[in-house]
Amino acid sequence: MSTAAKGLEGIVAAETVLSFIDGERGILEYAGIAINDLAKDSNFEEVSFLMLNGRLPNKPEFDAFLADLRGAYTISDHTIGLLRSIPATAQPMHMLRTMVSALALEDPNPNSIDIPEVRAKAIRILAKVPTIVAGFDRLRRGLDLIAPDQNLTFAANFLYMLNGEKPTATMERAFDACMILHADHGLNASTFTARVITSTLSDIYSAITGAVGALRGPLHGGANEGVMVMLNEIENVSEAEQFVMNKLAAKDRIMGFGHRVYKSYDPRATYLKTLAEQLANDTGNADLYAKSHAIEKTMDREVASKGIYPNVDFYSATTYHSIGLKLDLFTPMFALSRIAGWAGHALEQLDGNRLIRPKADYVGPHEKPYVAIEQR
Ligand code: ACO
Repeated sequence: MSTAAKGLEGIVAAETVLSFIDGERGILEYAGIAINDLAKDSNFEEVSFLMLNGRLPNKPEFDAFLADLRGAYTISDHTIGLLRSIPATAQPMHMLRTMVSALALEDPNPNSIDIPEVRAKAIRILAKVPTIVAGFDRLRRGLDLIAPDQNLTFAANFLYMLNGEKPTATMERAFDACMILHADHGLNASTFTARVITSTLSDIYSAITGAVGALRGPLHGGANEGVMVMLNEIENVSEAEQFVMNKLAAKDRIMGFGHRVYKSYDPRATYLKTLAEQLANDTGNADLYAKSHAIEKTMDREVASKGIYPNVDFYSATTYHSIGLKLDLFTPMFALSRIAGWAGHALEQLDGNRLIRPKADYVGPHEKPYVAIEQR
């Protein structure tokens, strides 16, 4: 009989200092710091440093990190040429997977596994991916590219390159918080993918390319799009309760609720909910937030006793929509931020690496005779 743990559930496969999750108590910490404290008081750049170094920076370290990151916002003519060659109809996650892989082509030393060099490469990938995503979205809309602005934060620069105008302070704050909340989450499927690839002593570009591919799947990074589809299906806030009741009666899932690990309120959703409300009010999307709130109220009454609460995707959908992002950019937003976590885990893996190579239980027959093809 097979002893395989399906989906590797419950298997501890790595050590990390980057994030800690207690699903029963609804706790998520990065390097020991509560996620909500980081979302409220820190910024995505500091959190990226934390992911790449296992701790927060001091002031000179942070200034140097910002200079490296912002100095790498620009993409080369070669990368722009490749971006222009991608069909406007391509799905953004397929574009992103291709373009991250292509960044290796212009690195004179792409295969280095020297930890400081890999960290420097990770900073450059992190800096360039927003320029690539915003550039692709503008090209497919038939618009000119907008060069990055090194005076802007990671969050503000992305929204500026996408929309051609600087975001409001609330938009920048909400987007920055979303980036912080998505930066790392233990040994999730895409992070594990990045660690497996790194463990072969392959390069950081391959690790992040593979992780983008893993994130794309609907069981992983795709749920925030599902939330938006559902919110669009509900025409009016007064219909939200009945919509939920009908879904539950049909044993359908309500997108943005429930989590394999969290059996209480997803700590990433708490602060995001406040931001989503503020942003929705500011951007004329109060109705969208009202629908979300009505869904949550009904779900709380009906299924909270089973440990089903909103997860991070539920309010990030409202937030991304209010910022003006198109539906198919929701999962790339997840990737933009999770690159910090993937790279952090790749660096942890390199430090004291051992090839990740589990076993499979063979469950087929033995000692079968070979039958020539003509007789099969
Ligand atoms: N809506 C309604 N009922 C739900 C939901 C939901 N979203 N999630 C779980 N349930 C119910 C199940 O029907 C089941 O009920 P039963 O015991 O009466 O049969 C019970 O809760 C347990 O469900 P499981 O599927 O065993 O829980 P699991 O831990 O495997 O599922 C999952 C976790 C896949 C996330 C699930 O909650 C789900 O499908 N949610 C919707 C999709 C979603 O939002 N995914 C994003 C996750 S967060 C992220 O990836 C960043």
